[in-house]
Amino acid sequence: MINNSKLRNGTWHLVLGFVAVLISETSIAQDIEAGKALFQTNCATCHGEKGDGNGPAAEGFILKPRDFALAAFKFDTDSDWVRGADADLANVIRNGTAAYGGSQMMAPWGQLSDQEIKNLVGFIRSLE
Ligand code: HEC
Repeated sequence: MINNSKLRNGTWHLVLGFVAVLISETSIAQDIEAGKALFQTNCATCHGEKGDGNGPAAEGFILKPRDFALAAFKFDTDSDWVRGADADLANVIRNGTAAYGGSQMMAPWGQLSDQEIKNLVGFIRSLE
């Protein structure tokens, strides 16, 4: 006969494990809505509310921010021959574009948390 309490214990552990996975998945996921809010506050002056690069502050820039909807990214920050991967966008946001030979206008945003940067990347991707 199957020991009922053992069975119940096993099921319980399975449920707990599943909940733990769910929680960790959510905490590392990109929160696009939070990213959007952060983008409107900090980035839209140059990048435009829709991320099309037509923000009022960028009007006079020689090196304008590009339209994120086109996903025509410029920087390969980790030299893996792929431009504009999530890691590249995160590096550009964290360190600014001048760090990679680009514009002086895109300042480093090192004061943002990893999660905030992840959320911003999620929002930028959602525009493609
Ligand atoms: C003062 C203007 C300004 C602000 C504010 C600004 N950026 Fe930029 N950003 C630029 C410019 C200009 C470029 C293009 C740089 C280049 O081509 O060298 C750029 C480029 C980028 C790129 C493109 C990288 C690539 O590979 O093409 C990303 C991503 C980006 N910015 C994200 C952000 C985020 C996120 C914020 C807000 C936290 C932000 N920027 C705030 C001016 C700005």
